[in-house]
Amino acid sequence: MSEPIFELKNIHYSYLGKYPALCGIDMTVKQGEKIAFIGANGSGKSTLLRILDGLIFPDSGVIKAFGKELNEDLFSLEDFSSSFRKKVGLLFQNPDVQLFCPTVKEDIVFGPLQLGVSRQEADKRLDEITTLFNINDLLNRAPHQLSIGEKRKVAIASTLVIDPDILLLDEPTAGLDPQTARQIIDIIIEANEKGKTIITATHDLHIVEEIADTVYILSRDKKIASFGASRELLADTALLQNHNLVHIHRHRHKDEIHIHPHQHLEHHL
Ligand SMILES: Nc1ncnc2c1ncn2[C@@H]1O[C@H](COP(=O)(O)OP(=O)(O)OP(=O)(O)O)[C@@H](O)[C@H]1O
Ligand SMILES: [Mg+2]
Repeated sequence: MSEPIFELKNIHYSYLGKYPALCGIDMTVKQGEKIAFIGANGSGKSTLLRILDGLIFPDSGVIKAFGKELNEDLFSLEDFSSSFRKKVGLLFQNPDVQLFCPTVKEDIVFGPLQLGVSRQEADKRLDEITTLFNINDLLNRAPHQLSIGEKRKVAIASTLVIDPDILLLDEPTAGLDPQTARQIIDIIIEANEKGKTIITATHDLHIVEEIADTVYILSRDKKIASFGASRELLADTALLQNHNLVHIHRHRHKDEIHIHPHQHLEHHL
């Protein structure tokens, strides 16, 4: 594989200078990789995606993207910021943060138009993405009136319509019905097969092996507790249990109730 697209060295970040969110993160990402961040609530997954997206900058440590150190000065350069935004797309965990136009249609074309795509090309992309996501019936509706799953679908469409090389996806399947979730996973995998880099934060362990070759487990103290091949990490029940990723489950078999750790690697039958 090629040169690293992201290099993070000893990244620390606190919100408002007093709420630690990342404490000493080192990682390297190469073009075309499939990576997942997993970990307990509050372990720093979304913050790490925001750092990779250049929305916030570390308090200390260095993040390089495409060989350049990311900081506010670099993003104040119009050329850099627009080429970075074309290359890197973030799906926010909360779709309400992402959708702000009066209609779904306007939200979907907003990103491409902002990035200098012609009206004709933006409309062509809108048609394609509408068909792919089967959201024709939502186009003229107000995003804030949609169900949570519909909002997530529209937010994913508005991220993909920009056609970024690197997709940062924060909980892409949360709140989606099983068939829609399946469809989104297939779209993500297909994008990776075409060479796109995919970095996903998720609690959905049963999708991790499909959407990631490498997994980072973030710990409650906002560090990387472990990383490695997804198949190996997901097989380590003790490690997953330590990081709130499996729970004790109660099953009734005939008249007996069994209690055992449950990983949610597969759906319940
Ligand atoms: N806007 C904010 N202001 C203050 N603290 C914040 C803010 N956003 C996140 N934090 C804190 O930063 C830490 C990391 O939060 P983050 O949202 O990155 O976690 P997460 O792993 O994505 O959690 P979840 O699984 O719930 O999505 C948490 O302790 C959280 O309380
Ligand atoms: Mg999060």
